[in-house]
Amino acid sequence: MRARTLLGAAALATLGAALWWRKNPSACPYGQRFWVEAPHPIITRERLRAVLRPAPGERLLEIGPGTGYYTLEIAEWVGGGSAARGGDAARGDAAGDGANTGTVEIFDLQQEFLDHTMSRAAERGLQNVVPTRGDATALPYEDASIDAVVLTAVLGEIPDPAAALREIRRVLKPAGRLIVGELFGDPHFTTLASLRRQAAETGFAYEDHSGNRLAYFARLSAPQ
Ligand SMILES: C[S@@+](CC[C@H](N)C(=O)[O-])C[C@H]1O[C@@H](n2cnc3c(N)ncnc32)[C@H](O)[C@@H]1O
Repeated sequence: MRARTLLGAAALATLGAALWWRKNPSACPYGQRFWVEAPHPIITRERLRAVLRPAPGERLLEIGPGTGYYTLEIAEWVGGGSAARGGDAARGDAAGDGANTGTVEIFDLQQEFLDHTMSRAAERGLQNVVPTRGDATALPYEDASIDAVVLTAVLGEIPDPAAALREIRRVLKPAGRLIVGELFGDPHFTTLASLRRQAAETGFAYEDHSGNRLAYFARLSAPQ
């Protein structure tokens, strides 16, 4: 009986903490990185690639990379790894590894996450990942300078998501796209309906999504 009471109290406390966290957006601390290192079911790297449709040579921005769950693959897709460069050479790319080498800008509030991701990129021999620390509501990139922005399990952590979306719109090129990934269970989960509302309010057009209501990648564009 006592054990059941204790269990009930623990469950209530967990629920209370989750609800509080949901109502008070804040960045996932580096000390809790095991959450972001765990497998991301449904919002897999393959699914991201299908929605993002990255092209060699592009300049992509990943806001909130965490420990780089998607970063290393994105860097390879735009053509930055030794494997990717070998592929270009194998295809007879006359420009060598220059013209098709894209860049992944990673941008995070917490230096520890940037350092963690950069050390993983170095281990894999990737030289096209560029870290910058800051807040998503004030991006240090020029207007219309980014081909695509990726934001997975991040939007709900930002206290003023509309300000971040407006900044993303500013830095995106006219034909640029924004990919938002979300996974239910994250205390800051943003529903697809809420994302579509926020996107419309900040001038984004919803194009499509892959996945389901509980785990999805949505593709948005910013018509000029
Ligand atoms: C839950 S983690 C997601 C990590 C990764 N995208 C993934 O799916 O594995 C959220 C990340 O967003 C970052 N973040 C939260 N608020 C931010 C903000 N206002 N500006 C920039 N980064 C932020 C956190 O520091 C953390 O790296």
